[in-house]
Amino acid sequence: MRDFVLLYVNGVEHRVKGDDAFMPLSDYLRYELSKCGTKVVCAEGDCGACTVFLGRLDTGAGSGNRESLEYVPVNACIQYMYQLDCTHIVTVEGLKIDGELNRIQQSMVDCHGAQCGYCTPGFIVAMCSLFESCTKDDKQCKPDRAAVSDALTGNLCRCTGYESIIKAAMSVDEKQYKRLAQLYPPAPLVSTFKRHHDEPVMVKGSESEFFKPTDIKSAVEFRSKNPFAVIVSGGTDVCVNLNKGRIEPQKIMVLTHVSGLSELKTSAETIEVGARVTLRRLEEFFQSALPEFHHILWIFGSPQIRYAGTLAGNIANGSPIADSLPFLFVSGAEVEVAGTKGNRRIKVSELYSGYRKMVLTEDEIIVKIHIPMPSKSTILKLYKVSKREHLDISSFTAAISLERQGDKIANAKVAYGGVAAVVLKLPKTEEFLNGKPFNLDTFRQAGEVAMKEITPISDVRGSKDYRLQLAANIMEKFFFETADEKELALVCP
Ligand SMILES: Cc1cc2nc3c(=O)[nH]c(=O)nc-3n(C[C@H](O)[C@H](O)[C@H](O)COP(=O)(O)OP(=O)(O)OC[C@H]3O[C@@H](n4cnc5c(N)ncnc54)[C@H](O)[C@@H]3O)c2cc1C
Ligand code: FES
Ligand code: FES
Repeated sequence: MRDFVLLYVNGVEHRVKGDDAFMPLSDYLRYELSKCGTKVVCAEGDCGACTVFLGRLDTGAGSGNRESLEYVPVNACIQYMYQLDCTHIVTVEGLKIDGELNRIQQSMVDCHGAQCGYCTPGFIVAMCSLFESCTKDDKQCKPDRAAVSDALTGNLCRCTGYESIIKAAMSVDEKQYKRLAQLYPPAPLVSTFKRHHDEPVMVKGSESEFFKPTDIKSAVEFRSKNPFAVIVSGGTDVCVNLNKGRIEPQKIMVLTHVSGLSELKTSAETIEVGARVTLRRLEEFFQSALPEFHHILWIFGSPQIRYAGTLAGNIANGSPIADSLPFLFVSGAEVEVAGTKGNRRIKVSELYSGYRKMVLTEDEIIVKIHIPMPSKSTILKLYKVSKREHLDISSFTAAISLERQGDKIANAKVAYGGVAAVVLKLPKTEEFLNGKPFNLDTFRQAGEVAMKEITPISDVRGSKDYRLQLAANIMEKFFFETADEKELALVCP
């Protein structure tokens, strides 16, 4: 059993032991390595000032492909050192070429993209990540304005104004951008990581202990012996809670390298998503497979959050406003959990027993999510209502799916989030819709039934009345978005 975290920072090896293994990466960089280019502003993943590159063995094409490193932008304030075994961290300092600013850094200077400078290092790493990933026909391509804006949704600037920052990214000649693989030859890093990736790690600090298992059996064993251990996957929920002092776990288990959990398998009818598959990988996958769910994933958090966070984490966190849940409820998705007695499957819609509480036994962990693909005849719409489109917490979420048999509705499924302590399936509304004619009147009445099935509360994201109104209005919206021209003409002549 290894007793240190092995990682590289800007090409230099570090073996992290003891209490250092329990620090946020941003603190380790700033206070242990004096790499103060990485700034900390919010310490909860919201502003992007601390964005760094995380290089990991590429699992994109399946867990067998480990011949290159995939560099992704993540928020260093919500990545703890114990999550970073066998990774290469590149900070804003590590982007310089022979001591000179790289093309993007220079462009930020030339275009006056920095004033106070707190946000600047994070913007630069996020921009570089766009140039790292923007390829077409195996050649680097020039990102357009939409791609630049998209890549920067996780970065906030409070003083310069975004126009000059976007201009800085758009003025870079992509042929002059030197990729990380050119700055840091991948072969020695890949060979070191391949050698150590599958080694279990246990590190004891003065107050906590963490375990990185590499197979499901030892993960389950550890879990059963330590039922209060906190499981960390992408850490985008857990590490915010750590930073806010809401939890102080003595035992931690990180799932980053458990074999088999990074697989994404598809068949004609079902998608099997391993518990370590990132939201970003799913976003890419669903772009063609199911654009409606892709859109929900695209507006989920920010690129930094999606490159780290997982679907399993979203499910296990169990928030009533978790964005993936309404879709998983109406699609009939199931989680597969592993425990000391073996594996079992539970419908996501039957997983919660109360606010953020799952029906799992103390030894069980989620290993997979099985998602049945909606049939071709299914009409599916997913909704996220929030104050802004990107990087915002939902006030209300919904999934509505149904089929049409002639002018009648069949197989209606409705789930709402943000309207009770857990995401709710609305059986009375479903029953009301089934067999009814597909017209505005039906959806208006269904909205009234839905309002009676929910028990929203008022909080900072919306009042009880606002949420009740949304519950009704979303039904009408569904009608207007899915009705054909003749049906629309009847209500909007
Ligand atoms: C800035 C920011 C923006 C966000 N935006 C959104 C958003 O738009 N929509 C949204 O829904 N959420 C959002 N989130 C919340 C979070 O990113 C998601 O819930 C994410 O899916 C969590 O995944 P993770 O892998 O990071 O989970 P972690 O933080 O690692 O874990 C979350 C919880 O799940 C448990 N867990 C993780 N994996 C397993 C497993 N395999 N078995 C059992 N338990 C497990 C952990 O113990 C923990 O309780 C945001 C968070 C931040 C910080
Ligand atoms: S400091 Fe704001 S995202 Fe990390
Ligand atoms: S330059 Fe000041 S916050 Fe961006």
